[in-house]
Amino acid sequence: MKPNPQAAYARHLDDRQPGEGLLADALSGLSKSPKRLPSKYFYDARGSELFERICEQPEYYPTRTESAIMREYVGAIAAALGPQVRLVEYGSGSGLKTRLLLRHLESPVAYVPVEISRSALAESTGKLECEFPAIEMLPVCADFAQPIKLPRAARAPRQTVVYFPGSTLGNFGSDDALRLLREMRSEAGQGGGVLDGGVLIGIDLVKDPATLEAAYNDAAGVTAEFTLNLLVRMNHELGADFDLAGFRHRARWHPLAERIETHIVSRREQDVHIDGRAFRFAENEAMLVEYSCKYTLEGFARFAARAGLRVAEVWTDPHRQFSVQWLVCD
Ligand code: AVJ
Repeated sequence: MKPNPQAAYARHLDDRQPGEGLLADALSGLSKSPKRLPSKYFYDARGSELFERICEQPEYYPTRTESAIMREYVGAIAAALGPQVRLVEYGSGSGLKTRLLLRHLESPVAYVPVEISRSALAESTGKLECEFPAIEMLPVCADFAQPIKLPRAARAPRQTVVYFPGSTLGNFGSDDALRLLREMRSEAGQGGGVLDGGVLIGIDLVKDPATLEAAYNDAAGVTAEFTLNLLVRMNHELGADFDLAGFRHRARWHPLAERIETHIVSRREQDVHIDGRAFRFAENEAMLVEYSCKYTLEGFARFAARAGLRVAEVWTDPHRQFSVQWLVCD
């Protein structure tokens, strides 16, 4: 068969307008007590760029550690996934992590990146298309946290594998994370393959608080800029009037919940206006903008089991900072 990546690209790229929900989510999130905003809105073009820079910071160990695990074990990982895979990736970003995997998989049939940032999706798909002309590219610009019907491959795959690297699952609270794992399980089970597939997922592990807090408070201030970019975005896209000097970034480890919680903290009492409505911030009032949940290996295995997924293999680094796990349908 002759893949026509251009056609597929055009067909799925315009399915959704992920920015559209920002106004509604900002108005409802700022009306809550405590105030909150969904972390998915970090990833506009500027936010995606800043996230790439976070990954290069010396304190931010997850990306570097996950890449090292992938480089070291990609042969074993490709063997576990098997031939003729339809690879679905949630939150594909720049697609850099996927290149290594695609190179090592045996005759993959199709690649379905699902990414909320249109610019990141367009750029990564363009590059991967050139490097892998034999793989059918089916990009989808969408929020993967919403139920979405994903495109089938023109050639029948042996199985569908959902790739979810980067410990992005950690950004979801436990109910949403469980729902998402179940969604992935069902995609892997009914993805048009001959067999039930599985989920290849990157999971960040619980470790000492100092290492964790440093990763979300880099000395160069890139994470702070990334967090506050949410306010920049609301000013630009919603005509809001956040005074950037009036707010700061705060990320702390919460040992009982086993997660980093990131807040935007108001430096003083102030009013902010969005769409004709005023929102008051008290001095030191904190608005929740991100969870970054960490797991123990045992805790994650129990959690995955609740979604009908069994941990078949785990690859980690020598310091057990991060894990790449192969989950199969149970
Ligand atoms: C998108 C899950 C990889 O939670 O570590 C990095 C996003 N936020 N620094 C994470 C993030 C602040 C990140 N992931």
